[in-house]
Formats: sequence, C-alpha cells, structure tokens
Amino acid sequence: MTTPATKRPLWGSNIGFLLAAIGSAVGLGNIWRFPYIAYKNGGGAFLIPYLTALVTAGIPILLLEFALGHQKKASAPKAFALVRPRWEWLGWWSVIFIIFGIMAYYTVVIGWCCNYLVFSFTKAWGSDPNDFFFNTFLQKSSGVWSLQGINPTILAGVAVVWFINWFITFQGINKGIERAVKFMMPVMFLITVTIVIWSLFLEGAGKGIDQYLSLDFSKIADLDVWVAAYGQIFFSLSLGFGIMIAYASYLPDNVNLMRSSIIVACSNSLYEMFAGIGVFAILGYMACRQNIPVCETVTSGIGLAFIAYPKAIAMLPFGNLFGVLFFFLLVLAGITSSISIIEAFTSALMDKFTFNRKTIVTLVCAFGFAESMLFTTHAGLFWLDIVDHFINHYGLLTVGICEAIVIGWLFSTDTLKIHIYNQGDKSDGKILTLRWHIVTAWGFCIRYITPLALGIAIINSLLTDLSAPYEGYPVSAILILGVGCLLVTHIAAIVVAGVPWKKKDE
Ligand code: PHE
Repeated sequence: MTTPATKRPLWGSNIGFLLAAIGSAVGLGNIWRFPYIAYKNGGGAFLIPYLTALVTAGIPILLLEFALGHQKKASAPKAFALVRPRWEWLGWWSVIFIIFGIMAYYTVVIGWCCNYLVFSFTKAWGSDPNDFFFNTFLQKSSGVWSLQGINPTILAGVAVVWFINWFITFQGINKGIERAVKFMMPVMFLITVTIVIWSLFLEGAGKGIDQYLSLDFSKIADLDVWVAAYGQIFFSLSLGFGIMIAYASYLPDNVNLMRSSIIVACSNSLYEMFAGIGVFAILGYMACRQNIPVCETVTSGIGLAFIAYPKAIAMLPFGNLFGVLFFFLLVLAGITSSISIIEAFTSALMDKFTFNRKTIVTLVCAFGFAESMLFTTHAGLFWLDIVDHFINHYGLLTVGICEAIVIGWLFSTDTLKIHIYNQGDKSDGKILTLRWHIVTAWGFCIRYITPLALGIAIINSLLTDLSAPYEGYPVSAILILGVGCLLVTHIAAIVVAGVPWKKKDE
C-alpha cells in the first residue's frame, strides 16, 4: 500500500540554506581539530595539501551531494535508489551510521560543553583542570569494559542537548532549522570574532601564532600529512553523511549550485583558519605565563577544550566571561551540526515511509538519547574515542569513494554535469563557458582523483591500524565498538533498503 506524498518543504531563502549548510560544516572540528592538525602537519605549509584536498575532493563531493539532492529532490537513500535501486543501501548506510554512530557521541561532547559552560561562571575546575576533567567530572574508569554506571551530571547536559535538537527539528525546515540557524550563525560569528580579537591582545599571542603559521615544507613529502588533509576536509565539510543531499533537496529550482558549494566550502575553511589564530594566541599566552615553550602547551580535541582552555581561563583577567563565551560557542557550533544529522536521517525516513516528521523526530531523539547514555558511563571517553576513530577513518571515506564511483561511473556524470550547468543565471556567455570548464573538471575529479585520493587515505589508515591496535585499546573493544559499529550499521542499511517503498513518488 502506498499513500500520496505530501509536498516537499522548501528553504524560505537561499541564505537560509547556505547558513544551514555552513552551520553543519562549522562544528567542533573547526575549532578544536583543524588548528592542531595544521600545526602538527607543517603549519603554514599544511595549506598546500589542505587546499589540494579542498579542490580535488571537498568541493567536488560537496557539489556532487548538492546536485544529487537537488536533481532528485530526495534524501540520500532515495536519491541513490533513483540512480540505481541496488545502491539504496549506500544512502541508508551514510544516514544510519551518522545518527547511531556519530550523533550518539557528538551530543555527549556538546553535553560536556554545556556542563563546562556552567562551570565557567565559577571556574569550577580550580587550579588543576586536568585532574578535574578526568577524576571529578568524567570520573573516568580504569578500562573500556569497566562502565560503573551512568554519570548524572553528564547525563543532564546530554539531555539538554537532545531536547534542543528535538525542539528545533520537530518544527521542520523553515520554522525549525532555518529560523534556528538564522539566529545561531550570526551569534557564532560575533563570538568567534570577539574571542579571536581578545586573544590577539594577550601577552605571548604572537609567539603562539608564529608556531601555528611556521612553515615546515619538509612535511609535505609525508603521505600521512596528505591523508590528514583529506580526512579533515571530509569531516569538516560534513561529507559522506547524506546531510548535504538532504539540505539541497529542499532548494527550489534554478539555484546556482556551483556558487553555493564554493561559498559553503570557503566559509568553512576560512572559519577554521581564523579560529586557529585564536586557539594558538591563547596557547602562546599560556606558554608565556608558565614560562614554557609554546610546543609544550599544544593539544587538540578534548585536551584543548577541557584542559588547556580551562587552564588559560583560570589565568585570564575576566576569565569567567571568556569561558562562558568559548563554551557557548562550542555548544552553538555543535548544535548547528547536530540538527543537520537529525535532518539527514529524518528526511530519509520521511521519503520512504508514511510517518510524519513530528513522530519520526520524536522517536529518533528518544532512541538517540537512550543510545547516548552508553557514552555517559565512566568508560564513555574510551567508547567515544574508538567509535569516532573507526567511523571517521573508514565509514566516511568509504561512503565518499562509493558516492564518487556510483555517480562517476554508474550514473553518467553527464546527467549531473548538465544539471549543475543549467542552474543559475544563463545570460552571460563568458560565465557559461567558465561554468562548463568547471563542470568538466568536476567530472574528472569525481571519476578519478577523488576515489584515488580517498582510497589511498583508507589503505594508509588500515595499514597503521593493522600494525598495532588503535591507541593500545584491547582488541575486543576495537572489534566490538569499532569494527562492530561499522558492520551493524551496514547490515541495518541493507535491511532497511530491502523494505518496500511505502510512499508514492511526488
Ligand atoms: N563538520 C562538523 C565539524 O567540523 C562535524 C560533523 C560531522 C557535523 C558530521 C555533522 C555531521 O565539526
């Protein structure tokens, strides 16, 4: 039995769509991952592999996802099913592993940021943020399998995050996501500018920035540096998750997709480069205050946000205000990304089944919250680390390669090329010629360069992981949490793809 489809909602304005896509791309990774990756992989010289990755894989896959979602007016599973019914599972795999893999722990990290936002008012971490984070806050257990129950403080933060996500996505594209990003993105921008400018005036800032931008060209010969660049571009642009496909499916006809993909990709990269200046200025300040070299203060991810920054905040005049701004920024960056994850999954279910948005969003959030609880135990940090590593190093890149192969080789690239070419203003001959050249280069990247580059990245990670268990974790944990997560989501995708379509085509 099939029922007629309801009309697909549309973004109220192009800026609403762009802000939502940039909001998805700009997340925790831009603030705490990029600066460190850049520093570790050659500083300013990292720009060479980074920009190459942006041009040869980032923008091409982003444009591919935009064009696919827009041309098919469908979320990832339906769009792939329309290309080749047998590839529907690929769409399901991307949206399933993102919601049940990434989202489950991403919301936990945003939850920690909510907790730290509150702690900032009193600088609750005292004089030893390291001890506070691991022992007082996380109460980290001794090993992966020693769960020791749920940590209520963390659970409260996570509940708030899921509630906000539910509240926004429940109201749909215009009243929910578009309205939220139109408020959140400008606020994020203002806070970022304030924090970076504030950091620049601190003693030692220059030394930190020198370290960030120092040129080490010798690194460019190292394959790992190139792999890091492709990985960062992929994660940072939220590619391979079906997010950009879903977002572009809500665009009206005749939108310049090429321009949109360049705007989104460049805004994301500029944001992360800019955020890096603030991050390193603070590290320079810390090094100066403690009288140690900057290189000793450099960390990324959790270490940066929950240990290094709190240390700096403790030393800063008006540190409380700085802390509140910084953690609020992380919460906003996280939420504008997490709502896009929910939307990718919700739109996939709405395309195939007959449930309405409100029911789906409520069920997804309830189930997702329950799953996030697994990461709020005392072993949560280990679980998070393992799942994150496997999904990012294998899941995402595999989807990226498959996308490029399905579109580049199975579905004649020409169909999408023509679709992209035909979008936007067609009155200026010169622009049209340029557009055609870009589209041709795009087709070449999708067929050859992107799959090759991503393939090398996966093989490289595989060789490293096979030579020793990731971070020395027990093999059982790696198999169950890492490999298991990829396998279970893959099987689930194949099963859902096998279910007959319940909804008639629009
Ligand atoms: N792009 C986000 C970041 O840089 C990460 C993200 C991944 C967001 C997956 C949504 C989905 O942090």
